[in-house]
Amino acid sequence: MDQIQILSSSALLLAYLIGSVTFILGLKMLSHPETARKGNSVAAVGMTIAIFATIFLYKTKTGEGLHNYVWIFAGLALGTVLGTLAAKKVQMTAMPEMVSLFNGMGGACAMLISLIEYRNDAAPEAGKLAIIVLGMIIGTVSFAGSIIAWGKLNGSIKDKSIPGGQMINFAMMGGIVVLSIMLIGGISATPAMFYGILAMAAVYGVLFVMPIGGADMPVVISLLNSFTGVAAAFGGFLYNNPVMLTGGILVGSAGTILTILMCKAMNRSLKNVLIGSFGGAKAVAGGAKEAGTYKEISLNDTAVLMAYASKVMIIPGYGLAVAQAQHTCHELEKVLNEKGVEVSYGIHPVAGRMPGHMNVLLAEADVPYEKLLEMEDANDQMGGTNVVLILGANDVVNPAAKDDPASPIYGMPILEVEKAEHVIVNKRSMKPGYAGIENELFFRPKTSMLFGDAKKVLQNLVSELKNV
Ligand code: TAP
Repeated sequence: MDQIQILSSSALLLAYLIGSVTFILGLKMLSHPETARKGNSVAAVGMTIAIFATIFLYKTKTGEGLHNYVWIFAGLALGTVLGTLAAKKVQMTAMPEMVSLFNGMGGACAMLISLIEYRNDAAPEAGKLAIIVLGMIIGTVSFAGSIIAWGKLNGSIKDKSIPGGQMINFAMMGGIVVLSIMLIGGISATPAMFYGILAMAAVYGVLFVMPIGGADMPVVISLLNSFTGVAAAFGGFLYNNPVMLTGGILVGSAGTILTILMCKAMNRSLKNVLIGSFGGAKAVAGGAKEAGTYKEISLNDTAVLMAYASKVMIIPGYGLAVAQAQHTCHELEKVLNEKGVEVSYGIHPVAGRMPGHMNVLLAEADVPYEKLLEMEDANDQMGGTNVVLILGANDVVNPAAKDDPASPIYGMPILEVEKAEHVIVNKRSMKPGYAGIENELFFRPKTSMLFGDAKKVLQNLVSELKNV
């Protein structure tokens, strides 16, 4: 190896080290809203360094570098343009949909890597073949599943249980295992087996996601995300590429942790989510339980109650996101502040439809981070709060989670709004939320209903408050 070669391979390793470290730092920074944006940029810079180092410095064992630059840069340019446009255009509520599509692309890349490596080396040794086959199976399941999830979230694919779907899935899984063992073990192995495994993995991915309730998709997407990470890590093994390995392992483990956290915050097992016991189109038995009468409050009374309060806590939920009322909500907070009212926000970990949904939504409206209280802190402060204003949230304040062992959400930690003096609930009707169950909070003596679209109600409330 001459001096230049040694230098270039050392530079490549250094670039990979920078890439790996920035991924880890970026991920750490993503865990706090204040540093999340920077964390994303730090990891993106690391990824850019790793990509360009690979393009210009990578050499095969025979000392060959990459040469097909036209294809590489055409792909990079196309991906950059499409990704940037899509990310700029996407609505916040459609974010899980976009994550799903991007994740599907990651799975497809892992699948293509395996396909190409298999085509390039028809008789690899068993270890390499195992990595190729595993990367292909997991990447394909993730690709097919993510595309179905994307279709379900954008409404083009309906929740559907295919008759005998579970049996077909078991058969696919069995077929994948048997064919993989035969192929890797060299037992009557033929290339047709490889492509058979690919086809079965694609069918498995589709049938696995198809029956899951549309609203359970964020959990499934997070799970598929971890699959893509693992598939990418196999690619890292294949190319002996440390940054791909680190990135894949980080995505795989972060996706798994997120899946577990979401299930925990909903008090549901992953099995329960995958089989679909609530959410999506399915309403739960007992959901229509009649809980009594409720009382309404006028805009004017709400304004008076809030203007003379010393502490108000706002509880945002999915409805606030749908109404895109975050800016008006921030305006309400400022008007109240001007009147000497202290305002905070109680954030439930699964309020909305994706992790951190409420934090991102409120950050978009420039609500200061220090006003956002995590559930435990919000519950601690609830006792000293005069008015709780619930904006399009439902399940995350449902007392059945604490009081009713028969409820499907029993055991899910909730925001204990009844500890406050007055509870005002804004939603459009008495319809249930995501879990499809009645909320007894709406019928309790402390609670008053303020019906209407969150944005319109908030706009009117701000005007009323200015006159109080
Ligand atoms: P939900 O329980 O879904 O309730 C949202 C409420 O918003 C509905 O009851 C709806 O009532 C109201 N709403 C809809 N549009 C509105 C509008 N324009 N203006 C005012 N209100 C409107 O929401 P949540 O309390 O935020 O709970 C989230 C649920 O999603 C939990 O069950 C959670 O487990 C689940 N989930 C969350 C995640 C993550 S990670 N966040 C992932 C998967 C599932 P009306 O129709 O009467 O207006």
